[in-house]
Amino acid sequence: MKRLYQTVPTGCDWAVEAQGLVKTFGDHRAVDGVHLKVRTGTIYAVLGPNGAGKTTTIRMLTTLLRPDDGSARIFGYDVVKESHIVRQLIGVTGQYASVDESLSAIENLVIFSRLLGMGRKEARQRAEELLEEFSLTEAANRPLKNFSGGMRRRLDLAASLIAQPPLIFLDEPTTGLDPRTRNQMWETIRKLVNHGSTVLLTTQYLQEADELADRIAVIDRGKVVAEGTADELKASVGNSSLQLKIQHSYDMERARQIVEQVLKVRSNTSTETGRITAPMTEADRVTDLLIALREAGIHLAELSVQKPTLDEVFLTITGHGVKKDTAVDSSSAVEEVRV
Ligand SMILES: Nc1ncnc2c1ncn2[C@@H]1O[C@H](COP(=O)(O)OP(=O)(O)O)[C@@H](O)[C@H]1O
Ligand SMILES: [Mg+2]
Repeated sequence: MKRLYQTVPTGCDWAVEAQGLVKTFGDHRAVDGVHLKVRTGTIYAVLGPNGAGKTTTIRMLTTLLRPDDGSARIFGYDVVKESHIVRQLIGVTGQYASVDESLSAIENLVIFSRLLGMGRKEARQRAEELLEEFSLTEAANRPLKNFSGGMRRRLDLAASLIAQPPLIFLDEPTTGLDPRTRNQMWETIRKLVNHGSTVLLTTQYLQEADELADRIAVIDRGKVVAEGTADELKASVGNSSLQLKIQHSYDMERARQIVEQVLKVRSNTSTETGRITAPMTEADRVTDLLIALREAGIHLAELSVQKPTLDEVFLTITGHGVKKDTAVDSSSAVEEVRV
């Protein structure tokens, strides 16, 4: 097959190296000095809530938006000065959104393949391979307008893979998908890496980053607030967490202050349930805490120590709460949290 993508320079360890990227919209710094380093051949997740600056970061890395400050290299090529080379090294999902709705899945893929310079036979063959790979063979001849959201995304990914780009950007590839379709996407993303691509994805789901990524950057309000493997991030919040149920709701605020002072951590307070949750780094401090609470005349209804949840990981890192993902199957054995 003819090479459609530029060959990755040999010995290039880093697919992405971004230094102090900044993008300001009006007086709002949507991306505020982002550093990222993605090793070639890995899956990297940029994790953060809505509005954190994920898409803006991706747009700069994919040459679609010029950074106001900082710089970024893709396989060693500068995204501003060498954007024409960078574009030949990357695949971005979503870029094929304007395909013809009345054409079938296979027709769409064949058209893209032809546009990329493949011959008729080769284009057909590649389209069939990709449809098979993405479990779309049965739907191959259906017009796109009859596709479900999940099928559409898989086709979108398939289209971006026609020429097997060395680096693939996936901006929230599973947001809004049902759990089964999400699992299929995860499989697909793993396949991309097995085929030799590097993947940078963004997500609002902690579990997704945990499940897929070799490394994770947590991004909040335009800044990377934590970086590491999932295990490193979890370890950074302590091994277990302390849960207190306060008897009288009027004591909640005072109790929270004492917890934070004594344990020297941030806590998660829920006034509805009357519970305060805090990461516990040293078990000994709990004694000090109980004494301090008693001295303040605050009565506890319950006290328990638990393994940290993914909520607490994010809370500890960013200092603000998380939203539960209501789209997630509650019977799933693994806890899923939308941050
Ligand atoms: N073209 C734009 N013009 C003005 N503000 C924007 C634009 N794009 C994004 N923003 C703002 O920048 C912030 C980051 O947005 P975005 O990068 O889309 O976040 P995310 O993808 O993490 O949800 C948000 O506050 C958003 O409203
Ligand atoms: Mg976004």
